Amino acid sequence: MKKVMFVSCMLLISGGLLAQSGGGKKDAANKKQQMKQMIDEQFKFAVEQYKVLAKNTPANVMPKTYYAKNNKSETSDTKWWCSGFYPGSLLYIYEYTKDAATLKEAEARLGILEKEKHYTGNHDLGFMMFCSFGNAYRITKNPAYKTTIDTSAASLSTRYRPAAKLIQSWNSSSRWKGPVIIDNMMNLELLNWVSANGGDKKYAAISKSHADKTILNHFRPDYSSYHVVDYDMKTGEVVKKATWQGAADSSAWSRGQGWALYGYTMMYRFTKDKRYLNQAKNIAKFILNNPNMPADMVPYWDFDAPGIPNADRDASAASLMASALLELGQYTKKAERNTYVTAAEKMLTSLSTDAYRAKLGENGGFLLMHSTGALPLKSEVDVPLTYADYYYLEAMLRYKNWYL
Ligand code: GLY
Repeated sequence: MKKVMFVSCMLLISGGLLAQSGGGKKDAANKKQQMKQMIDEQFKFAVEQYKVLAKNTPANVMPKTYYAKNNKSETSDTKWWCSGFYPGSLLYIYEYTKDAATLKEAEARLGILEKEKHYTGNHDLGFMMFCSFGNAYRITKNPAYKTTIDTSAASLSTRYRPAAKLIQSWNSSSRWKGPVIIDNMMNLELLNWVSANGGDKKYAAISKSHADKTILNHFRPDYSSYHVVDYDMKTGEVVKKATWQGAADSSAWSRGQGWALYGYTMMYRFTKDKRYLNQAKNIAKFILNNPNMPADMVPYWDFDAPGIPNADRDASAASLMASALLELGQYTKKAERNTYVTAAEKMLTSLSTDAYRAKLGENGGFLLMHSTGALPLKSEVDVPLTYADYYYLEAMLRYKNWYL
């Protein structure tokens, strides 16, 4: 997946816009029709492919990834940060297809995940419990799911450090004092949602403090984000700015840019605070104007990866960015919205080709190939990942609900 033509995405996006303004309404209608057909096909595929994934995954664990070279599936326990994505993906597939067996499988997996509502070992509870139970409650309105979400928010909030006004991502170690990673922005959705749905308002206040401090310290002047900012949690002072999964401390790790984009767009959804909207728009600009964005708009694993254009891709970054861009488009006026939606369309269209989307029965039952978990740690390189599938499905549902 390394030899893909290297062309600045600016050319591509402006090309897309020109095509739209030149072709007028007919082109736009054709595009919609193509997208509708593509989304329909992808969900029809997903419902079958995820039956393969279910078969490959013992009942007491969650899928994690699959290694094609030795035809080996890897699973995780429910404490792994990704444990909510599989049930979440099943719920998205059910939402679109109404396939009863898919809902049953989702319910079974929620059953093994539920106990993690008390987990406080890191900041990942939002990923784990909101991508899963958040969707389950939204779709089924089962009150037991809401109780689980509320308990999860209480657990996550124990990681808030009032002196620093931050949620601590990982525990202190010999390497980090009080680390906060940009990914943490995603966990704020759980907290905001609980406050907005009858829960304690302190969770929204915690989210706001965390998002504000992150704007202050996590971003460079070009709106790219550091991966890790290490803090003294007693004073709130920055100890160092660094990376863990990126190419270098100073690089723009692609998925991190996606987390930032999604996170500030989501913060605007809940607060309507224009500072968050502007932050999201500036992050989008960094991503979409980046000269290292490939022509198919599936980012290299790091925008500054060594070896571009032969560096590995990260399909998960593309699906995450596509989903975030579609939401950002909801909060912006026509010309700007077109830029975001055109970019998301391109990402989703590329992901839906044979270059990224697996064939039925292959890829361990996952939908997408070619994601990168943590290249510097030699972990999960050029593999399928649960969250690549999750945000891909979410983005297609968003497209269907908002733009068709
Ligand atoms: N949140 C961890 C990752 O994006 O790999």
